[in-house]
Amino acid sequence: MSDFLVKLGTNKAARSVLGTLGIPAPQQLRRATGGYAAAPLTDRTAWVGGQGLGVDLSALVSALGASPGDERADVLVFDGCSLDGPASLKELHTAFHPRIRGLARFGRVLVIGRPEATSATTGAALAQAALDGFVRSVAKEVGRKGATANLLRVAPGAEDHVVGALRFLLSDGSAYISGQPLTLDSQLDSEAPVFTERALKGRVALVTGAARGIGAATTRRLAAEGATVLLVDRPDANAELEELAGFVGGRALGCDITDPDAPARIAGALTELGGVDVVVHNAGVTRDRTLGRMPEADWDLVMNVNVAAILRIHEALAAGPLHDGARIVLLSSTVGIAGNVGQTNYACSKAAVAGLARRWATELSARRIGVAAIAPGFIETRMTAAIPLMTREGARRLSNLSQGGLPADVAEAITFLSSPLASGVTGQVLRVCGGSLVGA
Ligand code: NAI
Repeated sequence: MSDFLVKLGTNKAARSVLGTLGIPAPQQLRRATGGYAAAPLTDRTAWVGGQGLGVDLSALVSALGASPGDERADVLVFDGCSLDGPASLKELHTAFHPRIRGLARFGRVLVIGRPEATSATTGAALAQAALDGFVRSVAKEVGRKGATANLLRVAPGAEDHVVGALRFLLSDGSAYISGQPLTLDSQLDSEAPVFTERALKGRVALVTGAARGIGAATTRRLAAEGATVLLVDRPDANAELEELAGFVGGRALGCDITDPDAPARIAGALTELGGVDVVVHNAGVTRDRTLGRMPEADWDLVMNVNVAAILRIHEALAAGPLHDGARIVLLSSTVGIAGNVGQTNYACSKAAVAGLARRWATELSARRIGVAAIAPGFIETRMTAAIPLMTREGARRLSNLSQGGLPADVAEAITFLSSPLASGVTGQVLRVCGGSLVGA
């Protein structure tokens, strides 16, 4: 990644100048490398407090390799499930005030609560709602250290699933996710996730738009966890696609996903591979123009690639090779949540994709198929390289005020959502954007 401010931020004198100017000095985040490790928190210290979940969180955190810590910890986990009214919220101050300043660089704060809708009293509902604002603010305060803060909402009955989400949110794999809530429910998966190395061994995955960017990073990451990947991209990307397929031991299928025969060709290739366990609808395009200047063809193309093709492919898969218990991940965007000038077509398509994730989660729950959408912020790929320089710099700063994310950041989140570690996660939109890593 080439980012002037990130480079500048590595120089001590420059950091102090940036500080004087009130510009947050960006961090080069500590990111995960390689496949999942059995004990990702080895050499780190963790403090665990609070109560109410009914799970021995200290035992789970030490099983990840962490040793006990307190005022200078790498990881702070607080169980806020018992918070039940305005006065109880003081426990957040009591727990974090003495510890937050000592949180290590690239540290992790995780607050655990209950979905507000499952609260028995008004007091509990407001206290659980309050955790959201608290965590988002903590995320902004610790962002200057490259540390993250996230909220895990656990529905009653889903306690057994905490172990997987905890592993992801406390590890370096979630380096670019901060200030985000994630909910676990008990409807989908009956069994708690059990950690195994090469979590996707024996599984078949489909990745569309696999030739480059986020799709290529995801392909590599899923393959590193043992999946056999069917890589799909447009025929003009065949050379890159074949090369990557050879590298990961997968299979390349050159095909434009909007072609009328694409659903049948993709379903056919997956049937030959024995069916599909992980589907990543990643291929997407932008055609940016303000609405008054946008040609009809640009509107149609974006809707066709980003939404209609996904629907057609899904129908072909659901009627054939899609296994029960599979996982589906859709690429939405923060633009689909917040909107953006010049992107009415794109934002519309990406909000539709988030809606699809919620809808399919309900429709497919009887088949134990988990569905989630990822909403990346600004990720440095060829798609964003096409944005004019000044707009791009502005977007980078708005996204993070420090640096754009990397395709690998999104790939880590997709891999989590594709794996048994995400048991209990369905119908959600997870934002992968360092929006809170702003240090301001
Ligand atoms: P990219 O442009 O680097 O890669 C997209 C890939 O999709 C390319 O290999 C392209 O050939 C393929 N593709 C496009 N149209 C296709 C079609 N009709 N049939 C088959 N393949 C097709 O884009 P990037 O950045 O990797 O984006 C991947 C996904 O993530 C997209 O859905 C995008 O909207 C989404 N996203 C990206 C963000 C970013 O900042 N880069 C932010 C938010 C969402």
